[in-house]
Amino acid sequence: MKYIVVLPAAGSGKRMKAGHNKLFLTLRGKPILIHTLDVFEQDPNCMAIWLAVKPEERTIIQNMLHNYHITKVKGMPAGGDERQHSVYACVLAADATTGLILVHDAARPFIEPSVITKLTLRAYETGAAIAGVKAKDTMKRVRNHIIEETLDREQLWMIQTPQAFRASILIKAQQQAAQDGFLGTDEAMLVERLNIAVHVVESTYDNVKMTTQEDLLIGEAILQKRQQ
Ligand code: CTP
Ligand code: MG
Repeated sequence: MKYIVVLPAAGSGKRMKAGHNKLFLTLRGKPILIHTLDVFEQDPNCMAIWLAVKPEERTIIQNMLHNYHITKVKGMPAGGDERQHSVYACVLAADATTGLILVHDAARPFIEPSVITKLTLRAYETGAAIAGVKAKDTMKRVRNHIIEETLDREQLWMIQTPQAFRASILIKAQQQAAQDGFLGTDEAMLVERLNIAVHVVESTYDNVKMTTQEDLLIGEAILQKRQQ
C-alpha cells in the first residue's frame, strides 16, 4: 500500500543527555536519523518523507541527507515545542488530502518493513492502525507508591510508532485537537477523541525508541544480530 511518512525529528533528546539532538548519535557509525530514513528510502511503497526539524539543525540535516543519498525527503518544516506540533507541521506541509499518512518517530530506527506492510494494509482497510506489542511485565496502577489496581495484562499493549491513518482522519483529528488545545502523547489519542476505532497491529519488541543511554546498547546489539 502506498503512503507518505511524517518523521518528527525536532526533539532535544533531554533524556539521552547527549548535549545535542540524540538523532545525530551514531549506531555502527551511522546517525540514528539516517538508520530510520534508510528504512523508508528503501521501501518502494513510500512515496515521500516529511521531516520536522529544528530550524537551526536544518543545514546539518540537509548535508546528512546528501551524504547518505536520501532522496525522498520532500520537505523539512520547523518542528514545534511538542512532538504533536512537529507532526502537525509536517502534515500541513505535505498538504495530502487523500491516501495514507504514516507517522513514525525518527528515534525508532529498527522498524521492520514487514510491520509497515501489515500496518498500511490495515489502515487502508479501516482508516486507522498503529503498531504495538503485548505488555511483558505485570502492570499495576500506582498512586503515591501504593498499588491501586493490578491491570489485566491480556488487555494491555505497549504502543509504538508507526501509526498509519487515512489522511482525512488524521487531519480532522489534528484540527480538533488544535481547536481544543488537547495534547496527546501519540496521534492515535487524537483519533480516539473522534470516536473512530484505531486498530492495533502486532509489531516487534526490537522497535525500541532510542530514549536513554541504555537504549544505545540495545540498538548496537540489534544491529549486530541483524548483520549476522
Ligand atoms: N520530537 C519532535 N518535536 C518535539 C519533540 C520531539 O519532532 N518538540 C521528535 C523527536 O525528535 C523524536 C520523536 O519526536 O524523534 C519522539 O520523541 P522523544 O523520543 O521524546 O525525543 P525527544 O523529545 O528528542 O527526547 P526527550 O523527550 O528525552 O527530550
Ligand atoms: Mg520528548
